[in-house]
Amino acid sequence: MTLMSLCGKIMGGMDTKVISINEDNIDIRLMEEAGDIIRSGGLVAFPTETVYGLGGDALNPMSSRKIYAAKGRPSDNPLIVHVADMESVESIVTSVPDKARVLADKFWPGPLTIIMNKSDKVPYETTGGLDTVAIRMPVHKTALAFIRASGGYIAAPSANLSGRPSPTAVRYVKEDMSGRIEMIIDGGDVPIGLESTIIDLSGDVPMLLRPGFITLRMLEDAIGHVETDPTIMSGDCKERPKAPGMKYRHYAPKGDLVIVDGARDAVIDHINAHASEEAGSGGKVGIIATDETEDLYRTGTVKSVGHRQDESMIAHRLYTILREFDDEGVTKIFSESFDSDGMGQAIMNRLLKAAGHQVIKV
Ligand code: TXA
Ligand code: MG
Repeated sequence: MTLMSLCGKIMGGMDTKVISINEDNIDIRLMEEAGDIIRSGGLVAFPTETVYGLGGDALNPMSSRKIYAAKGRPSDNPLIVHVADMESVESIVTSVPDKARVLADKFWPGPLTIIMNKSDKVPYETTGGLDTVAIRMPVHKTALAFIRASGGYIAAPSANLSGRPSPTAVRYVKEDMSGRIEMIIDGGDVPIGLESTIIDLSGDVPMLLRPGFITLRMLEDAIGHVETDPTIMSGDCKERPKAPGMKYRHYAPKGDLVIVDGARDAVIDHINAHASEEAGSGGKVGIIATDETEDLYRTGTVKSVGHRQDESMIAHRLYTILREFDDEGVTKIFSESFDSDGMGQAIMNRLLKAAGHQVIKV
């Protein structure tokens, strides 16, 4: 028994089997084993193109309850139902809106979640009591094979403990889920690293609830005007986010994170001054920089998220850096700010949530 599974056993009580799957040469026998666990009401973590998911049978209310328990997540926070084909979608909604068909044609399989009105087939345990259901068809081959082997409907939140960054690599899934679930499918690092874009098409006006790799512009090019949930970028608690999960202080690192926004040199000066003050009073400082600026900081552990222009790389690195700072015991994190255009909107949305909306303008 490995140390990890021993710890898991002591803390969670369950033996978690880890299997490795190569996307380009999927072992059908192992997939069937994973599928059997789901059919008998168990939980399996699996890779997708966005982040690792914590899967259970979406049509089994007991499975959804187990997902909430394993994550330590409030049960009013609905789960995304993952499917592998359009026929599966038809039977869990009252009807597929025209705009959903257009988006599905264009972006599925892929990192887009569409909310529609649910049919009776989907239990309220899965939708957190809502009459709508969030649906996503991932493009990751292992995810698709796993969904098919499991009967076609996998409810899956990100495979992290509630309040921690979503896992982009299997080591973080093991850290959070060992001992709590039956199986983890190791599919290597995920390609995108931020959760899917969520659009609500259950009402009259399309509404963006969570920005992601599929940007607002891409959505509007396909279906025309899309409203944006105003709480995506604001820390104003008077407004209630339309995606229940977005109201929680998500993606929170253990250290206190502050975003510093302004002209480049002013940001660097501010961070340098406050980082040395913080370190002087015994704090352990981490700085989220870019390739262009990382050499200009003088205190603490400096990590670059990548070139400022390379938004895919920044998205991919962000959660890993937050987890690394946790592991290193960092108590205070300063981060540069990012543009809120294109995929930058998703990056800033996650960073703002991680920071509890603490932004210093310089
Ligand atoms: O990329 C992803 O979407 C990943 C992978 C595993 O597919 N999943 C993921 O799930 O990020 P989760 O549970 O961490 O985030 C789902 C979000 C939550 O904020 C939840 O409140 C919202 O989707 N949501 C789910 N169903 C909804 C519904 N019917 N109406 C409004 N918001 C909904
Ligand atoms: Mg999540």
